[in-house]
Amino acid sequence: MKPSIAIVGCGKVGTAIGKFLAEAGYNIAGLASKSLSSAERLADIVKTNNVSKIPWEITKKADIVFLTTPDNAIADTCNSISIHSGFRKNAVVLHCSGALPSTILSSAKKCNAFIGSMHPLQSFASTAPAGNPFKDIIISVEGEEVAVNKARKIAKDLGAKCLTIKTEAKALYHASAVVASNYLVTLLDLSFRLIKAAGITDREAFKALKPLIQGTLSNVEKAGIVDGLTGPIVRGDIETVKRHLEEIGSKTPDLLSLYKILGFHTIDIAMAGGDLSKSSAQKLKKIFID
Ligand SMILES: NC(=O)c1ccc[n+]([C@@H]2O[C@H](COP(=O)([O-])OP(=O)(O)OC[C@H]3O[C@@H](n4cnc5c(N)ncnc54)[C@H](OP(=O)(O)O)[C@@H]3O)[C@@H](O)[C@H]2O)c1
Repeated sequence: MKPSIAIVGCGKVGTAIGKFLAEAGYNIAGLASKSLSSAERLADIVKTNNVSKIPWEITKKADIVFLTTPDNAIADTCNSISIHSGFRKNAVVLHCSGALPSTILSSAKKCNAFIGSMHPLQSFASTAPAGNPFKDIIISVEGEEVAVNKARKIAKDLGAKCLTIKTEAKALYHASAVVASNYLVTLLDLSFRLIKAAGITDREAFKALKPLIQGTLSNVEKAGIVDGLTGPIVRGDIETVKRHLEEIGSKTPDLLSLYKILGFHTIDIAMAGGDLSKSSAQKLKKIFID
């Protein structure tokens, strides 16, 4: 039989976990949230009557407890539940934060529970996901062995694959995820603003750039970062880079410093490939620093 589940914090991630674990045959033993209406919304989906605003009223019923509150409430919520002896002996307590380690749940050890974290590398933007947001994604797990083994099984049942990470490496790991997801949006914003300054409309911009973006992703997937790099820097085309800087400086000066920083760091990637000469690299670095 599958273990029973309690969820504390019925927002975007808590709702997705509840909905798709229920679909995978798990018994959702109880739901708690700051607002009762959030717990009730999920209760309607997973068909349970066990809802509360008080977490320890429902967590004691479960083999596995998800604390899916915002990051800044996880440790306090865990502590309050522990103080009220709200975890079963040998229960597994998991949070889903990318940045925080499982050790923030250490208060649950007082109840002899096992602690871990499982972070889905996915962006959850709504409490009404269209399809299964866990399908074929990576869920990163760390923590005590018993907790990690349970998290692995849950990840598999959600349709995801697992990556084991070191507890002490979570902040760096999460910084990487932020760059891949959030700062990719920042990069796209830079690109869209430049193409719009070149007279291309909003509607045309995405259409025009999408195949280039996808082609670049595909090149990096096939050949790696160094061999996936193309363009003026790796070609040592100093005059083209100068023209970019002149035009950006005159038409969109607020974008110049970001363009320069990105260019500066691209030189090292180009050098690693062996195509960019040392002297061209030095000239380019000087241009980007000036
Ligand atoms: N969103 C993402 O893309 C994403 C991706 C990966 C991991 N995560 C992680 O998943 C966790 C949850 O994030 P989320 O995006 O689902 O946040 P969210 O949508 O804001 O949901 C958090 C839920 O917890 C409830 N809550 C707040 N404080 C509480 C407390 N003290 N006790 C009980 N419930 C409380 C909220 O209030 P109400 O009850 O008033 O609704 C809300 O329903 C975080 O650790 C986050 O880092 C998020």
